[in-house]
Amino acid sequence: MPFAFQTVLQQVINDGSKYGLKSELFSGLPQKKVVVEFSSPNVAKKFHVGHLRSTIIGNFIANLKEALGHQVTRINYLGDWGMQFGLLGTGFQLFGYEEKLQSNPLQHLFEVYVQVNKEATDDKNIAKSAHEFFQRLELGDTQALALWQKFRDLSVGEYVRIYKRLGVHFDEYSGESFYREKSQEVLKLLDSKGLLQKTVKGTAVVDLSGNGDPSSVCTVMRSDGTSLYATRDLAAAIDRMDKYNFDTMIYVTDKGQKKHFQQVFQMLQMMGYDWAERCQHVPFGVVQGMKTRRGNVTFLEDVLNEIQSRMLQNMASVKTTRELENPQETAERVGLAALIIQDFKGLLLSDYQFSWDRVFQSRGDTGVFLQYTHPSLANRSCHISFRFDEVLYRSSQDLQPRHIVSYLLTLRYFITLLFSDIKDIGDARLHLFRAVRSVLANGMKLLGITPVCRM
Ligand code: ARG
Repeated sequence: MPFAFQTVLQQVINDGSKYGLKSELFSGLPQKKVVVEFSSPNVAKKFHVGHLRSTIIGNFIANLKEALGHQVTRINYLGDWGMQFGLLGTGFQLFGYEEKLQSNPLQHLFEVYVQVNKEATDDKNIAKSAHEFFQRLELGDTQALALWQKFRDLSVGEYVRIYKRLGVHFDEYSGESFYREKSQEVLKLLDSKGLLQKTVKGTAVVDLSGNGDPSSVCTVMRSDGTSLYATRDLAAAIDRMDKYNFDTMIYVTDKGQKKHFQQVFQMLQMMGYDWAERCQHVPFGVVQGMKTRRGNVTFLEDVLNEIQSRMLQNMASVKTTRELENPQETAERVGLAALIIQDFKGLLLSDYQFSWDRVFQSRGDTGVFLQYTHPSLANRSCHISFRFDEVLYRSSQDLQPRHIVSYLLTLRYFITLLFSDIKDIGDARLHLFRAVRSVLANGMKLLGITPVCRM
């Protein structure tokens, strides 16, 4: 074997899970405090594909930052406040069942929400009582808050369980509700700095153009004095700075919220918070047409179940599948790999049309292919002609996973070639397989994929 090749192999084996990360490209890189906010679904509303993308992309970014030695805090900022809870409070009294709530909270709250929404359009009394319920929440009424708290706690319990299936965890389940009072302080602060302008409608806005251009104002207060989405984001950012003293804060949402975050960052700047420039929005494109057999995606769990059953079906044709200890779990991991790889192949900002066929095609650059390589090496134990550290470095610069994805897929091709080429080098071959397997596993874990050992 050529000398350079052996050196690389030795390095892969020695560095183990740190291979690629010990590189001089990252040495001298100061350890930073990084906050990554991602997933952030809305309680009682649909968990749509945008939330799924935010979840896997945010998880990737957090994994990468952590692997590079930074101190990462993962925040899930729930949509757990607003009129939907007025509707839910009223709706639950009318159509809710305690047992259903306890046994399947996400499903039941969503059903109640859909029904009360429908009724409220015809029946003005329902709309009125929903309004009143939300008013009670805003004013801190203990009874109303207790019901709200129950809805939230049960929902979060379910989220934790389902994220676990995805291999995702959070350090903090925050939410818009945390900033009801702090938003009022933000409004006072804006006012004291002369940035708050009352409108004829009684709302309050911040002028972002600096010259009164009405097309670039941001509304921060309703006419009844309550806060809005943007106000709560201001309060949340300030609070996180106090709490974590972050060097970077990353928000992961679809590109539809690009303007929202620009405005929030600009208002922070105007309020005199220089650290606003440490805030970064990572936008991603819109995915159309993700459907399950049950119809449109409403819950994350539906997607996971769909992945599992489709993959199980695919695997049923393979002989070894029958000997697997836990075929469901393996199917889910392989299926998730397939989903993540097809999502991460392109630029995050690109829109695309979703297709299960594309996710599961068994030939070509898919996650199934990648997962398949891992056990076939594991059972026996590459030529890495280019450097993993450079690939990691590229991803760390633009926060795009596709560099890692194409590296892993290329690595996978090399192995196929090598399998046939180096039948006669014994020990070295074993060494090689172990090395490739280690790099594959590290790369996959960064992407949020759990490598399987048999399939
Ligand atoms: N809950 C929001 C939504 O579903 C996303 C929250 C994004 N984060 C934020 N800090 N605004 O659209």
